[in-house]
Amino acid sequence: MDIVDFKMPNSLYALPEKDPVAEAQTVDEDTAKFMVEKVVPMFSNLLHQTTGKGTKVDCFTCHQKE
Ligand code: HEC
Repeated sequence: MDIVDFKMPNSLYALPEKDPVAEAQTVDEDTAKFMVEKVVPMFSNLLHQTTGKGTKVDCFTCHQKE
């Protein structure tokens, strides 16, 4: 742990509660698209597999509310 410079991403961009996707698109369109199309469904699947129940995943599962 000392040798490998590993950090959890702990400075995640905060998104506005009202319309996170629209705001995200103005900041970083490609990443926003990737989040919507890949990250959210994938994370939802992973949680579903490990917990065995449907868990609602949205941007705020990871990002802070602005
Ligand atoms: C599974 C956790 C997770 C979810 C769910 C998630 N994100 Fe992210 N997002 C991240 C991480 C981690 C990063 C940082 C990636 C990096 O910096 O390498 C990130 C980065 C971003 C960025 C780039 C910010 C920048 O500094 O340029 C945007 C924009 C973004 N996310 C929007 C969204 C939106 C919109 C949603 C919902 C549709 C969403 N994210 C859902 C984990 C998540």
